[in-house]
Amino acid sequence: MKKQILVTGGTGYIGSHTVVELQEKGYEVVIVDDLSNSSIDVLDAIGKITGLRPAFEQFDLSDSIKTNTFFDKYTDIEAIIHFAAFKAVGESVGKPLNYYRNNLNSLMNLLDNMKRRNIINMVFSSSCTVYGQPDVLPVVENTPRKQAESPYGNTKSICEDILRDCCKAYPQINCIALRYFNPIGAHPSSLIGELPLGVPNNLVPFITQTAAGLRDELSIFGDNYNTPDGTAIRDYINVVDLAKAHVIAINRLLNKKRTSNYEYFNIGTGEGYSVLQLVKTFIAVTGVNLAYKIVERRAGDIEKIWADTSIANNELGWKAETSLGDTLLSAWNWEKKVRGLGN
Ligand code: UFG
Repeated sequence: MKKQILVTGGTGYIGSHTVVELQEKGYEVVIVDDLSNSSIDVLDAIGKITGLRPAFEQFDLSDSIKTNTFFDKYTDIEAIIHFAAFKAVGESVGKPLNYYRNNLNSLMNLLDNMKRRNIINMVFSSSCTVYGQPDVLPVVENTPRKQAESPYGNTKSICEDILRDCCKAYPQINCIALRYFNPIGAHPSSLIGELPLGVPNNLVPFITQTAAGLRDELSIFGDNYNTPDGTAIRDYINVVDLAKAHVIAINRLLNKKRTSNYEYFNIGTGEGYSVLQLVKTFIAVTGVNLAYKIVERRAGDIEKIWADTSIANNELGWKAETSLGDTLLSAWNWEKKVRGLGN
């Protein structure tokens, strides 16, 4: 029998790419998503790519009754990949209760069912935001976490604490937290990708929307950082490469290859690029000119971060494969497809 994997937030940006990779590796997927930040059309797109439309249930996982009812119905789940969460850093500052209620309760409702029903495996969607601005770069997994800059970031840190404590208290539960660096790009089919509602907060969707003519120009937030060109540095990871890390983590859990029942890994490329380097790479690979101006720093931004990925490379046998140029091209092809722009 096929192993059934629950993917929460499976119609979202990273979730949808992960569902594709899971189905292509023969896993049976059931998605739970409340569609608060994604579209039902994603299911058709996944169906077109993989030949299989995944099972889908629409509800909010912070509702414990609905979550319990879901698990009464789906009794063959062997592992959970938990993506479903609110993720807008700026919004979380103004609406902390929404973020804590949603992101913490959904995780606890899932863990409660795992404990009661003997579903023993979870991959959790964490973030390099838990490191804050590290003192030493590249950042390694055992670098002490810092106080988060935003309620959103704090929910990721608290969720990691919840998982660590639950894995200790309930040794039958196994969890892998993946700390993503900055996920960008889209599936090579251009059938799924990142589709932010309203004005994008993140760099790459803002760039592709500007290139497509939806925005006048990109604002680069600060050119007086202590970096070679003065703009901030991040580790931009291709979303398909990132999705593949989840499949590897699931295999590891199901094959019981872990070294401890709570593990966490950096999922990045190991290379930092500045905002200006990224903009110049976008222009070079797409041939599209991009208007930009330098403005003030954005509150809450860190100066620079990139990953040491040796533990993920050696322990998981996973490595980022796609170049920044190819990834930016995939993001541009997706934007063109969404906007109905020809090649
Ligand atoms: N940036 C601009 N102009 C923009 C948007 C972004 O110059 O219009 C800059 C930012 O200042 C930053 C870089 O581009 O230096 C990347 O910014 P993003 O908003 O794309 O990403 P962040 O690094 O701020 O945040 C991302 C995720 C968070 C996650 C965090 C972890 O959005 O969910 O990485 O570090 F928590």
